[in-house]
Amino acid sequence: MTPEITTSDLVKRYTSIRKYSEEICAPLEIEDYVVQPIVDVSPPKWHLGHTTWFFETFILEPNFPDYKVFDPQYNFVFNSYYETIGARVIRTDRGNLSRPSVSDIYKYRNYVDDHMKAFLESKFLTEDVESLLELGLNHEQQHQELLITDIKYILGHNPLFPAYKKESISKNKKIEHPHMIRFSEGVYEIGFDGEGFCFDNELGRHKVFLNDFEIADQLVTNREYLQFMEAGGYSDFKHWHAEGWDWVKQNNAQSPLYWHHIDGKWMHYTLNGLQEVDPDEAVCHINFYEASAFASWKEMRLPTEAEWEVASVHFEWGNRWEWTNSAYLPYPGFKKEAGAVGEYNGKFMVNQTVLRGASDATPPGHSRNTYRNFFQTSLKWQLTGIRLAQ
Ligand SMILES: [Fe+2]
Repeated sequence: MTPEITTSDLVKRYTSIRKYSEEICAPLEIEDYVVQPIVDVSPPKWHLGHTTWFFETFILEPNFPDYKVFDPQYNFVFNSYYETIGARVIRTDRGNLSRPSVSDIYKYRNYVDDHMKAFLESKFLTEDVESLLELGLNHEQQHQELLITDIKYILGHNPLFPAYKKESISKNKKIEHPHMIRFSEGVYEIGFDGEGFCFDNELGRHKVFLNDFEIADQLVTNREYLQFMEAGGYSDFKHWHAEGWDWVKQNNAQSPLYWHHIDGKWMHYTLNGLQEVDPDEAVCHINFYEASAFASWKEMRLPTEAEWEVASVHFEWGNRWEWTNSAYLPYPGFKKEAGAVGEYNGKFMVNQTVLRGASDATPPGHSRNTYRNFFQTSLKWQLTGIRLAQ
């Protein structure tokens, strides 16, 4: 164990992160835990089980002698994408499982948590396992953000538009007087080289050459996005990638996700229920195609991830995941780890685009300016926004 971190610090950190996932689910009705309206949105109970399975499979089973798995069948249900670990329920079928029940999954969490606490206090905790523990905790935090976005999708696609809870998670930041920040051409460095945890895809700090560029110090607002919509942005092919234009036509796309035109007003579903769109808030829930089309309409562009990272110390970020114009690729020298954890990031480095920053749904203590989030270009259920560059 690293000398400055005590066992009781580890147990506290483990307990508080695990508890936060359950707090996110506390306002749900039992029925809300089960449904999977689209393939990308997993049932909340699946997130609760899968994050628990991660600790059981990667930490307790291989490292804690005499540990008995809670239920040997859970491996099939809660393995997400680890080929190394074996067969699993296909992702589209997660919402068809009425069993294990929600109460069984909470029992599973308690069982694994009790054993994890005993393990953390035992002599079996080595430095290698400690780094797996850190990965497991950061993994749980990633699923906490997914829990929020998936709950929003489940409730926001219910015709009753039920509120998730009364208190808002939105920081409701008003955007005022944006301006462009200039950077001169030159050699810069990007990538993680700090203390503490980062994901493997951030490693390999390296030099990049950037041409002169300018980047906005604020995000694009709903007001600006409405102007794009009203100017016919969704019906003018010239702003769209070919794939994006196909997506617009196939989906009859006309607005960000969760927006509804009701009695002459633009409303949107929020976790507090349907509300009028606030023109001064950052636009949210747009995909890469829409972000690019908006930038083209403004006669600007999206920043690359290197530009974003270099500039990020000069502006505030953290309310929206910001689409970049960078493909999700390995940094120079990227190495996949041996074993199942090598499947964590590397195998997704094809056909996805990098998002930088963090969002109102990102759990506390889970943001870095070197963090590389990534999604397919058509997806818009995360809290995504736009920062312009030129
Ligand atoms: Fe996962």
